[in-house]
Amino acid sequence: MLPEVTAIRYVTPLREGGSLPGIVEADDLGTYVMKFTGAGQGRKTLVAEVLCGELARRLGLRVPDLVRIWLDPVIGRSEPDEEVQELLKSSGGLNLGMDFLPGALGFDPLAYEVGPEEAGRIVWFDALVGNVDRSWRNPNMLVWHGDLWLIDHGATLIFHHNWPAAGKAAERPYDASDHALAPFAPDVAAAAEQLAPLVTPGLLAECAAQIPDEWLADEPGFASPDEVRAAYTEALAPRAATLHERITLGEPSKDRPSQAPGWLTGKDEAK
Ligand SMILES: Nc1ncnc2c1ncn2[C@@H]1O[C@H](COP(=O)(O)OP(=O)(O)O)[C@@H](O)[C@H]1O
Ligand SMILES: [Mg+2]
Repeated sequence: MLPEVTAIRYVTPLREGGSLPGIVEADDLGTYVMKFTGAGQGRKTLVAEVLCGELARRLGLRVPDLVRIWLDPVIGRSEPDEEVQELLKSSGGLNLGMDFLPGALGFDPLAYEVGPEEAGRIVWFDALVGNVDRSWRNPNMLVWHGDLWLIDHGATLIFHHNWPAAGKAAERPYDASDHALAPFAPDVAAAAEQLAPLVTPGLLAECAAQIPDEWLADEPGFASPDEVRAAYTEALAPRAATLHERITLGEPSKDRPSQAPGWLTGKDEAK
């Protein structure tokens, strides 16, 4: 189970994305990015954050630590923004926290170069979970202490919005043409060889076990949270083996900015 902390101070909202996460301080002296159960996208976004975050971590990708975080909406009472007030009021109880990486910069392909191996592993992972939210328009990656970190896995696992058809999820193609790492010649074949054997039903079950019961309870068509956990494992496990055959890396959409010049990436040494 994820560690549990209690929010003691609401610091500020983060407005870059759409879901208005907030920075909070907790009783373990940690600072977290809090993702609210009361946000418009609902609890499935948080389920996806936990399952994908824990899976990515176990596949050797960098994801900030996740925690269960308790919120008493009273801590936001001096927050002037009405939208934030509403969000806090509707999110009393259990929420998701992600370790805040202080001073992290948003990934910028013109300023940070990613090797084909790492790019391949990230593209392959995004294909596995059907992540539609790591495009060059909205990379959802941070650079911290010189390394690339993955955040924001809420827009993944779309099969959980239609469980009766989830069996077909294994076959779904993944178009990575607009992926933020597409310009870095991602070595998807090498990633598949390395990662596919790791994505076993056992590993997936271990990740699904991290999802709090509260966000799986009363899911229509399921008798218990554990049944829902098993359904995630069943949907993802058969996808890994031949996934790389269904990843497309074609032409990006026309308005993608061009790559950085060599002098910036350090590729060609100045004479
Ligand atoms: N762990 C973190 N450490 C530092 N900054 C973060 C962290 N998580 C998110 N952020 C910042 O907050 C923004 C919004 O977070 P994100 O998870 O992408 O939420 P949204 O669903 O709103 O897109 C990110 O683009 C990033 O700038
Ligand atoms: Mg985001």
